[in-house]
Amino acid sequence: MKRVAVLISGNGSNLQSLIDHIESGDLNAEIAVVVSNDPDAHGLQRASRAGIPTEVITLGEVADDGGNRTAYNIELAGLVSGYEPDLVVLAGWMLILSDDFLRHFGDNIINLHPALPGVFPGTNAISRAHAAFHRGEIKHTGVMVHRVTAEVDAGRVIASEPVPIFHGESVADLEERIHMVEHNLIVAAVDMVLRAEPSD
Ligand code: GRF
Repeated sequence: MKRVAVLISGNGSNLQSLIDHIESGDLNAEIAVVVSNDPDAHGLQRASRAGIPTEVITLGEVADDGGNRTAYNIELAGLVSGYEPDLVVLAGWMLILSDDFLRHFGDNIINLHPALPGVFPGTNAISRAHAAFHRGEIKHTGVMVHRVTAEVDAGRVIASEPVPIFHGESVADLEERIHMVEHNLIVAAVDMVLRAEPSD
């Protein structure tokens, strides 16, 4: 069975979707570990409830030991590598990862981003799309899963899906609809990537 490491920073609803699809037998994979940079991330509770090992590594604790971002990336890579994942999934992971982390996993890191390829990289993608719609600049937004490179939200696209924006809807409404699309797209993308990998 292919081993997946899931990195989160918050709610973990996409993690939950992966857990649910694995439990129902739709997704053939094992989540080897859930790692958070925030000890209060709700996703950690979701993982524990599903019996998945959890790890927390905060920027602060590495800094307290005299480390910087480079040290953080190296420590995180060591931690994740220890679980021998076939695939690393960034599902709501909010820290930018440098090559000190990325080079340990080659092409086997994917990220979920709540916007279409090439537009709204970085944070607040949903509210920026909402504002752009109201300025008449875009007609819809979307969701994508892509390979991770050092450039933020910019690697090779694995799957993407447009999401319409409706006149009069709030950012919160749009966000809710985007999350519903994400919950399916992340599962489909993980499935696609794992099937494409040669088996052991
Ligand atoms: C998602 O919208 C994801 O695309 C973005 O952060 C959010 C995480 O949501 N990078 P959750 O923690 O999976 O509920």
